[in-house]
Amino acid sequence: MNTHNDDGEEYKTITSTLSSFYNFYNYQINKLIKPRISKFEILSNQDKQLLLWYQKHTEYIQQCIMINKDFTEKLAVEVSTEWGVDSKTPHSWSEPTIEQFEMTQLILLQLTREWSEEGLKERKNSHNLIMNQLNSKFPNYIDRQNKKILVPGCGLGRLVFELICQGFNTEGNDNNYHMLFTFSYILKNCDLPFEISIFPFLDNSLTNFSKRQFQIRPIILPDISPIQKLNELNLERKGKIPYNDLISITAGSFIDLYGTFNVTDPKEIKDLKSSNKNKFDVVVTEFFLNTGNMIEYIKTINNTLAVGGIWINYGPITEENNKYGIDLTKEDLSELITNLGFKFLEKNDFEDSYFNNDNSLIENKQICEFWSCEKINDLT
Ligand SMILES: C[S@@+](CC[C@H](N)C(=O)[O-])C[C@H]1O[C@@H](n2cnc3c(N)ncnc32)[C@H](O)[C@@H]1O
Repeated sequence: MNTHNDDGEEYKTITSTLSSFYNFYNYQINKLIKPRISKFEILSNQDKQLLLWYQKHTEYIQQCIMINKDFTEKLAVEVSTEWGVDSKTPHSWSEPTIEQFEMTQLILLQLTREWSEEGLKERKNSHNLIMNQLNSKFPNYIDRQNKKILVPGCGLGRLVFELICQGFNTEGNDNNYHMLFTFSYILKNCDLPFEISIFPFLDNSLTNFSKRQFQIRPIILPDISPIQKLNELNLERKGKIPYNDLISITAGSFIDLYGTFNVTDPKEIKDLKSSNKNKFDVVVTEFFLNTGNMIEYIKTINNTLAVGGIWINYGPITEENNKYGIDLTKEDLSELITNLGFKFLEKNDFEDSYFNNDNSLIENKQICEFWSCEKINDLT
């Protein structure tokens, strides 16, 4: 997402993203069902006899695609109204690209990680470490509503939601409309837990399962209803904590919204960036640091964190695609962080996974760096 886009371009990106949810059914039929049928048809009769289960399994996959359609279509319709797009004319929305459809596919996996019971084990690894740091730094639950936390690259917002349940005033930031739309849908539309079924694993080329049944395994969402949970917390705390006001979400690039401003920036961007300077008591980066230019990310964290504020990080430090910055070893990165105004309080590393699936033949392990740092001084 580009915060400098003019309105027309921005509207096109919003409607094509919505369209990639609304028409996901067609994409899945074209990608998964049509090739299955045509490839089977050209087999010899003898080979077909070897795969007697194949056609029935194709029908099952098609049924699962229909259930995915129920979810993705409803999400597009609900979210469109929120974003000022006419929900009654989805056919007039902009055409999605293949990459946008692929992103919708990825969202089904991301939902599994962030909003299902299956993702609990993976989430706990980082969330427990993060919460332990916060609990020891801010033991007084009632006072936490005055502590501002920023979560850049918040994805589908599960960590943001957990921080709110712990009483913190939390801002999530992401630059991806797919993520923002889906997070917003889960937050505002799920009255009950386990009300949505999705089939994230239909594309075996992504998961490579050991058994065909795993391909058509549903995931039931969400494991917790944000609406219900916040109602319960409001009752429990007798209105002493304004849980519903503790959350805010920003759409746009972390550096563009929270970094230092350039002289060439338009006035509204300068004002926005000024209002974000030294604003937060805590910044939490979870599987985020390696998504972009780490030097710029660290400078931006310094800019938006108050002196004495805490930066907690969990995730790999190998830059995705190696396209943003220079090669940095773990040692180089530690030195850089110290030179950019931080003091390490705690540091460790853990073997972890992202989207791991015990039924898949693809193992997905990586080393994740955990640290907490205190901001010692401003850079500017
Ligand atoms: C690997 S995901 C992590 C999501 C979540 N924090 C988690 O732990 O599951 C990285 C997230 O960062 C977002 N992201 C990448 N570059 C960004 C940027 N420059 N500004 C804001 N968000 C960004 C992506 O859209 C994505 O949601």
